[in-house]
Amino acid sequence: MKNIEIKLAILKLISKGSFFSMRALSIRFDISPTEIQKHIEGIREWGINISYLKEKGYQLPETIDFLNARLIRSKIGNSLKLIPIIDSTNQYLLDSSSIKSGTVCISEHQTKGRGRRGRKWVSPFGKNLYFSMYWKLNSGIDSAVGLSIVIAVIIVEVLSTFGIKGVKLKWPNDLCYKDRKLAGILIESVNKESLVIGIGLNLLMNSTKEGISSPWTSLIEVADRSSLDRNELAIALINALYSELKYYELHGVRKFIKRWNQLDNYFGKKVILLIGENKIEGIEHGINEKGALLIKTSKGLENYISGEISLRGY
Ligand code: ATP
Ligand code: BTN
Repeated sequence: MKNIEIKLAILKLISKGSFFSMRALSIRFDISPTEIQKHIEGIREWGINISYLKEKGYQLPETIDFLNARLIRSKIGNSLKLIPIIDSTNQYLLDSSSIKSGTVCISEHQTKGRGRRGRKWVSPFGKNLYFSMYWKLNSGIDSAVGLSIVIAVIIVEVLSTFGIKGVKLKWPNDLCYKDRKLAGILIESVNKESLVIGIGLNLLMNSTKEGISSPWTSLIEVADRSSLDRNELAIALINALYSELKYYELHGVRKFIKRWNQLDNYFGKKVILLIGENKIEGIEHGINEKGALLIKTSKGLENYISGEISLRGY
């Protein structure tokens, strides 16, 4: 067994709730207690809290709702790759060749999860959803403008079918709840006609060892944990993305503008746009038919298309 496989096997075993002594694990996996200890440390680095009682052994204080590839595959039409430990699901699809549009890569833990502009996306094991979809745009990459708008709207609407209300949007690629970031979308192009759409959605994360510089939240704060099932949520998101992206290719962003504007966290509010060294102040007016952000400034109604732009509330 490879090191990662041993760690996953130890984790699956202790996730059942019982205590396992170092000796019992050492016999079970036929490796020394020192190696067991190293593996336990490695699992902790994935962001998992493992407790240790001298007389009893190791135990997981919280259960893990593991992703189930067979279950997800049985309910989606797309090819699916579940890689429990990965650098980045976006990177995996960017590096893949000859894959079909709609192929999904999903993971329990990303060691190099990334956000926009090379920022880090904190991805503790089993706590949240991290997945990416490969997409071939029949009409070419130019129609990618507005794609993050479409995807953000779809995610909020899927969440509402799970009874999760009150989630809002922050242009161009964030979902937030009470001004705290709940999810992010990272779209990266592979070539002139295909791209990778990456989604990170916080579900159960309530603390992290790694710092997150801006305010964040998780679905457990928004909804009752008992009503949340990671596998079912992943299935619903993959299916909705797949069908709505096909619609978007045919009809463009138009159908999504009104829906975005209704969900826009800053609509009608004072905002500041940060573009490099420049600051633009005004009142936010949602988005236009291209997905550009509309701001009413002293000069009139101006539109800004995505790029190196950050939006801040007052
Ligand atoms: P802007 O681009 O407007 O400055 P932003 O602060 O949301 O917006 P992004 O680049 O869109 O920045 O997102 C990456 C940021 O998300 C990181 O800088 C980090 O602060 C934050 N972040 C990292 N991991 C998580 C996570 N799991 N949940 C919420 N936020 C996270
Ligand atoms: C952002 O808000 O800056 C975008 C965050 C996107 C995170 C997701 S998690 C799955 C996929 N793989 C990555 O490395 N990033 C995206």
